[in-house]
Amino acid sequence: MPPETAAQLATPDPRPGVIVVDDEVAHLQALTDRLRTDGYRVWACGAAEQALALLADGQAADADLLLTDLRMPGIDGMGLLEQVRLSHPEIVAVLMTGHASIESAVAALQSGAFDYVVKPFRMATIRPVLARALETRRLRRQAAVLQRSLADRQARLEAANRELDAFAGRVAHDLRAPIHHMVGYAELLQPFVEGDGEARHYLTRLTEAGLRAEQIVEDLLRFARLADGPLQRAPVPLQRVVSSVCAAMAAQPAGNARVQWRVGDLPVVLGDESLLGIVFTNLISNALKFSARRETPLIEIGGAAGEGMCTVWVRDNGVGFDPAQAQRLFAAFERLHTQREFPGTGLGLCNVRRIVERHGGSIRAAAQPGQGACFTLELPGAASPLP
Ligand SMILES: Nc1ncnc2c1ncn2[C@@H]1O[C@H](COP(=O)(O)OP(=O)(O)OP(=O)(O)O)[C@@H](O)[C@H]1O
Ligand SMILES: [Mg+2]
Repeated sequence: MPPETAAQLATPDPRPGVIVVDDEVAHLQALTDRLRTDGYRVWACGAAEQALALLADGQAADADLLLTDLRMPGIDGMGLLEQVRLSHPEIVAVLMTGHASIESAVAALQSGAFDYVVKPFRMATIRPVLARALETRRLRRQAAVLQRSLADRQARLEAANRELDAFAGRVAHDLRAPIHHMVGYAELLQPFVEGDGEARHYLTRLTEAGLRAEQIVEDLLRFARLADGPLQRAPVPLQRVVSSVCAAMAAQPAGNARVQWRVGDLPVVLGDESLLGIVFTNLISNALKFSARRETPLIEIGGAAGEGMCTVWVRDNGVGFDPAQAQRLFAAFERLHTQREFPGTGLGLCNVRRIVERHGGSIRAAAQPGQGACFTLELPGAASPLP
């Protein structure tokens, strides 16, 4: 008989609940009586099917423990254990077994039972086993609560991030037109300002600041756009991506003829080719920018195919940075060098990380001041299963 009354259902019963399953009626009765005297709520079942029915219709849904005989007609202890593990994984199971079936009890332990006791047993034997099983149940419950609150926090964080992205996108979008007008009017003013005096100086500064604001707004818009939109995943040979980025960079008017390129064999990854193009454009343009003052800038790009994930790196022999700051670089607007030294918005690496993580990969940076920097990516290989 289920032990709850309607009144008890309103307030949770603090007593631990145990489902006892045994086809030996006398043993079941004696054990049930002793457990009730010990302060347990007990659901006594003469067969596994009865226990499953109690769990299925919710009567025993808040049971903490399952204490079941191993050998029973119909569904046996092992079968019961398997089904309960699937439907109520938080319930801790203890098996009762005769000497003849100890081997099966050990097998049951391997498939998730908490412990077993050999029949016939005394209450003094089973009490500490049940106490430990209850402690395990308490820890499982705590872990489940923690996991739920972690998942909850993660969901709230993701929602806040999405909102922030949308906000950044909206602000950038709305600022675009007025900034564009300011730059336009500053240019129109040029012919009215004579000579190289203070007024011209201010106007030049105004135009420069306006152009920079335009650049920031464009970068912010791109940043916001990367937050959503589906990934077009397909096998992408990184050799092709990197070659086209390098060719585009070398063709730029500011391209540095002294740059030495070393591009090794690169793996084929599973990803979105145009987004991966943005990743390598940012990494390679950083490598060029921060090594431009070297006599012979050296850019090395290499990779290795691994089990599941592939590794790719972009290394330069430029100014480098303090390795203690390596994590900061991936946050929005974080820059370790001044605008005067090396111009930029500080959104490039933030975009890179966002794209890489959307691919299920990761990125890390290593560097030494004055000795160059190396950015290493892990990306899923072409043979990875589609998520
Ligand atoms: N290869 C590198 N060598 C040295 N420092 C680097 C390198 N790559 C990035 N950094 C540091 O990390 C900062 C952030 O890089 P990120 O690409 O996000 O911004 P940025 O290049 O300054 O601007 P942009 O938004 O135009 O890319 C840089 O300002 C620089 O301080
Ligand atoms: Mg950059």
